[in-house]
Amino acid sequence: MDDTSRSTRSLQMQAHFAGEWQSSSDGAEVPVTSPATGRQIGTVPKLTRDDALRAIDAARRAFVNWSALTAAQRAAYLKRWHALILREREGLAQILTLEQGKPLAEARAEIDISAAYVEWFAEEGRRVYGDVIPSPAMGRQTIVTKHPVGVTCAITPWNFPASMITRKVAPALAAGCTMLVKPSERTPFIALALAELAEEAGIPAGVLSVITGSSRELVKVLTDSPTVRKLSFTGSTEVGKELIRQCAGTVKRMSMELGGNAPIIIFDDADIGPALDGLMALKFRNGGQTCVCANRIFVQQGIAEAFTQAFVERVGGLKIGAGDAPGIQIGPLINAAAAQDMARIVARAVEQGATVLAGGIANDTDSAFYPPTVLGDVTPDMDVARDEIFGPIAPLLVFDDEAEVIAMANDTPYGLASYIYTRDLARAWRVSDALEYGMVGINEVAISNEVAPFGGVKESGFGREGSRYGIDEYLDVKYRCMGGLSA
Ligand code: SIN
Repeated sequence: MDDTSRSTRSLQMQAHFAGEWQSSSDGAEVPVTSPATGRQIGTVPKLTRDDALRAIDAARRAFVNWSALTAAQRAAYLKRWHALILREREGLAQILTLEQGKPLAEARAEIDISAAYVEWFAEEGRRVYGDVIPSPAMGRQTIVTKHPVGVTCAITPWNFPASMITRKVAPALAAGCTMLVKPSERTPFIALALAELAEEAGIPAGVLSVITGSSRELVKVLTDSPTVRKLSFTGSTEVGKELIRQCAGTVKRMSMELGGNAPIIIFDDADIGPALDGLMALKFRNGGQTCVCANRIFVQQGIAEAFTQAFVERVGGLKIGAGDAPGIQIGPLINAAAAQDMARIVARAVEQGATVLAGGIANDTDSAFYPPTVLGDVTPDMDVARDEIFGPIAPLLVFDDEAEVIAMANDTPYGLASYIYTRDLARAWRVSDALEYGMVGINEVAISNEVAPFGGVKESGFGREGSRYGIDEYLDVKYRCMGGLSA
């Protein structure tokens, strides 16, 4: 059996724009490989600059009719897309596992949340309210209305290659915008499968495009284009900063979901069972390749020894293997280079004084698998506690009191997600208030869903996705001052 046949849904290997399935105008292609086997699973077009310009122009033309529809009409298209995503759940999950590597159970969960974003924003589009503000002068009305920003684009990552698309596309389309998606070169097939289903749902030509190829070339076309009025990006802070610079030339609106260095703080008074369950789920979901996963695990002195022992035992029991094998909890990382990065991070931590309590073996250079690893004796100044790990390495730091741990948790340029476990309600409020993060999970780690505003502060970015705040990112505010209304 070759790798392509491991999905019951066949892979779409062409890009989609101007309402058509398209190859590159110069015939070039990019190979896509499976992280589990390292083997090629297919190719996608390596679109040219001119192809991208044609896609933008088609999105501009499509905007005229799409933005003129009622919110209810756009919602009807999105609801059909939502139903089709759910109908195709299993095939989509298999594609995700094939090209991204995550365990099938996690891939199914990602398809569910991807669909949930579409349904949520279909409904939210019908609640884009304006304002009538009491006027400061007689004979005037002050009226505020909201309008789609126009042609938009999304640059999406490989770690959640389905949900990061619908979380951007659904609010954009519901608001009346059109959108071009540039998926990661590593995971284009799920994006193309979603575009196939959008086409089946009847979403008109040019409203949703998926352009494939070199990010370096295509993203520059998008950021330079005066037609594209908004860019939404999920990825590293380093790339985000470059995109912000590139968008300055056309003063685009932007949403930036960037890197994180999430602290999880487990106080002496925490309920240990749920804290341990939470930590396992948080640290090892998607093999630790999430920007909200625990990067620094702070455990209070009084429980540190017992908690560490229990954690190491749980980590030792994790089942690692190809994502489509039964019962697998940790799949491969995105590629062999990522696994080598993990080996380097562990070696550096050990050099700086950390102790390997589980996992952490040197890596075979051709494999994308890296064992879940626990590091003890970590201090805040070590690289492993300062940089985003993006893999299955869990650094444990011990603390004495609340003030000390708040200072350590905030001592980072990042500010995306943070977590605390405590049974003391006053402490929960006090500490969550003091944490300089866009999101705080209190005795809970599953914080990401369609109804809640996902996003960060500081160098973790700006803008929110999901929730009623998510659609505002695709709307401009217009204020009308109407005079001459006195009798
Ligand atoms: C991520 O962007 O890495 C996390 C996505 C999520 O949890 O929704």
